[in-house]
Amino acid sequence: MATTATTFRDEVAVRVHDLVRTYPHPEGGTFDAVAGISFEVRRGEVFALLGPNGAGKTTTLEILEGLGEPTTGRAEVLGYDVQRQREEVKRRIGVQLQASSYFEHLTLREILVLFGSFYPTRRDPDDLLALVGLTGKRQALVGQLSGGQAQRFSIVAALVSDPEVVFLDEPTTGLDPQARRTLWELIRRINAEGRTVVLTTHYLEEAETLADRVAILDHGELVALDTPAGHIAALGVGHRVRFRLARLVEAEQLAALPGVADADVHANGEATYDLRVTDPAHAVPALFAWATHAGIDLADVRVTTPTLEDVFLARTGHHLRD
Ligand SMILES: Nc1ncnc2c1ncn2[C@@H]1O[C@H](COP(=O)(O)OP(=O)(O)O)[C@@H](O)[C@H]1O
Ligand SMILES: [Mg+2]
Repeated sequence: MATTATTFRDEVAVRVHDLVRTYPHPEGGTFDAVAGISFEVRRGEVFALLGPNGAGKTTTLEILEGLGEPTTGRAEVLGYDVQRQREEVKRRIGVQLQASSYFEHLTLREILVLFGSFYPTRRDPDDLLALVGLTGKRQALVGQLSGGQAQRFSIVAALVSDPEVVFLDEPTTGLDPQARRTLWELIRRINAEGRTVVLTTHYLEEAETLADRVAILDHGELVALDTPAGHIAALGVGHRVRFRLARLVEAEQLAALPGVADADVHANGEATYDLRVTDPAHAVPALFAWATHAGIDLADVRVTTPTLEDVFLARTGHHLRD
């Protein structure tokens, strides 16, 4: 693929405009599973749709893949309308299928050869198996793979057609932490080859570590879209410094330290303090200097930054449970 243009990131890979998908409500009437969302994915990005079960992630992805119909609104992939130019879109995208839907009686290698026969350009099956460490399993059936291996295979099967844009729906759901990390590495490698990756996840850590930008979806609505760092900065909460002191002091004394916005005391038997800090590089040394000068023992100092978990809570009013 030609990925050398310096303006690569400025090109749009996916454009979604006012997308709505209405379904019949189980208790009568209808509801918007996707309630009018708009966003753009730039070429070369890893873009995550983050949200809890039922947020509308799969519905959105299936519309982009040409597998589902929007009720209203439009979507384009690489400039092609996903409804009116479906064949153009399908030729350029890779879609991860669920491992369970593969042909039971074909070996991994045979499945990749078969998939490749559907496309004008295709990648070598042995190269693909090597990419995900499944060379030794080339003659195995999908049913003989571990969960992590099956998931890796389902991703690499999406690469057969050498696609420019890869769609992954919850690529690591149900995997143990080790297998999840292996898959993150694989997704990074796919992206490093110049492919745009659009994935859905309900794992905050996955979105935070993998995605260039994260769209937070809840009840079919896009509630925030930014880089992980941008989401956190937009919260305006800053860092927190927690510690214990050998005796109680006035919170005002601590709040007056440089780089400290305000101070809380949790005097639950012990004096535990919680500082909101705008500038930890100044606040933390100042805190140590203050404690030394005051002759008070300072213990268990921890500096924490807000995470996407805090962002999710602030934007939706509820937690995202794994
Ligand atoms: N074919 C369908 N018919 C009716 N409701 C559906 C259908 N597919 C999904 N839904 C509903 O739409 C909402 C969004 O579903 P989905 O896009 O699968 O969410 P997610 O992938 O974020 O878990 C959910 O409430 C789900 O039950
Ligand atoms: Mg889903």
